Amino acid sequence: MKKPDLNFTYHKNIRSDVCIYVGINESHNIAHFLKNLNPDKVFIICDSTIAMIYADSIREKIAKRYPVAVIVHKANEANKNLQAITKMCDEFFIAGGTQKSVIVALGGGVTGNMAGVLASIIFRGIKLVLIPTTLLAQLDSAADVKQSVNSALVKNSIGSYKAPDVIVIDPLFLKSLDDRKIRTGLGEAVKHGFAQDMDFVEYILTCDKRDLNVLQKIITKTISLKIEHWENSPTIWNDSKQIERLTHLGHTTAKVLEMIDIDYLTHGEAIAHGMVIEAYISYLLGYLDLRSVERIYKVLSELELLYPLSNSYTCATVIAKLYGTTDQPIFALLKSLGDPTTISTTVLRSATENAINWYLDTKTTKPEVKKYQSATIV
Ligand SMILES: NC(=O)c1ccc[n+]([C@@H]2O[C@H](COP(=O)([O-])OP(=O)(O)OC[C@H]3O[C@@H](n4cnc5c(N)ncnc54)[C@H](O)[C@@H]3O)[C@@H](O)[C@H]2O)c1
Repeated sequence: MKKPDLNFTYHKNIRSDVCIYVGINESHNIAHFLKNLNPDKVFIICDSTIAMIYADSIREKIAKRYPVAVIVHKANEANKNLQAITKMCDEFFIAGGTQKSVIVALGGGVTGNMAGVLASIIFRGIKLVLIPTTLLAQLDSAADVKQSVNSALVKNSIGSYKAPDVIVIDPLFLKSLDDRKIRTGLGEAVKHGFAQDMDFVEYILTCDKRDLNVLQKIITKTISLKIEHWENSPTIWNDSKQIERLTHLGHTTAKVLEMIDIDYLTHGEAIAHGMVIEAYISYLLGYLDLRSVERIYKVLSELELLYPLSNSYTCATVIAKLYGTTDQPIFALLKSLGDPTTISTTVLRSATENAINWYLDTKTTKPEVKKYQSATIV
């Protein structure tokens, strides 16, 4: 290859400290949390549902100290795309947003991700505060740096890494969530349990899932497990493959399930189905034993997370999406229950087909473990 005529090295080594406040009524202190960020104007980003229930009260609290505007987008996954982000950018500038303005995301994981993308691209990065309002966003998506929207073909495929500056988690918002949305959050919590702490799984199974103090404990524990995982993986922020590991359990399949019939499954349900299928793949590759696969299946059924799949979900549709844009989708697989060590691996298409057929055919297919042991480990 020809030697470049000139060259330079780009160093980007930014350290971001993320402050997380958790407590019932904590969102009432939002103006106080904004103080250190010194905004010239605050932009609340929320979806149409949250605009009706909570936007006014948060807006009033902020308006006591700062000018504030509200940007509303259409609720749900189908609208988590670049067109919606472009519209938000226009609204931001029309309302007088500057480099010193702060974005406040008020809503579920969809709003958090969209606001995260917005905050990372406006002037190549402005301050971001998250006030997550679903259990899933409170215990999982908010405490993260991956911000993305969907392309027409691949979920969460367009985005950036952007750390929020402040996260304010108020379990009081969970009062207006229906049971299905509470369960979807538990899907991410139990994922950490399977990989890091089986006692936590038992706690989730038996606790009162509508008690706000119990939910606060589950939120704090799940985020602590996530932080523990990050702290035990020193290279995690420099190696994009590593970052996907433990937190990515069940997600390779889940992303596909969510795109096959958008908004049919909640995110937690999609990862629950994904975790069972991927547990079986792990078994086929000779890692997880069959009893562990059964345990995962039983826990997720008890939590009512295995929402019945519609006729759109066939082995052919799942395989077509999984292997449609890449020959080698990478799976993060558990080695054993309660052990955070995962294997990041590509999987032979035939093994994936076997696992999906096993799952969709109510587990009638006989596993053939040895056949798949040659799958590439990366
Ligand atoms: N690392 C990450 O960034 C990460 C991790 C996990 C999930 N996610 C993303 O999060 C999204 C799923 O998040 P979600 O489950 O919160 O979905 P969501 O944001 O679509 O919220 C679900 C629905 O609940 C409504 N809602 C929100 N809060 C409410 C409340 N307190 N009371 C009543 N209704 C309320 C919303 O208006 C929406 O209709 C997915 O797009 C997923 O990809 C991202």
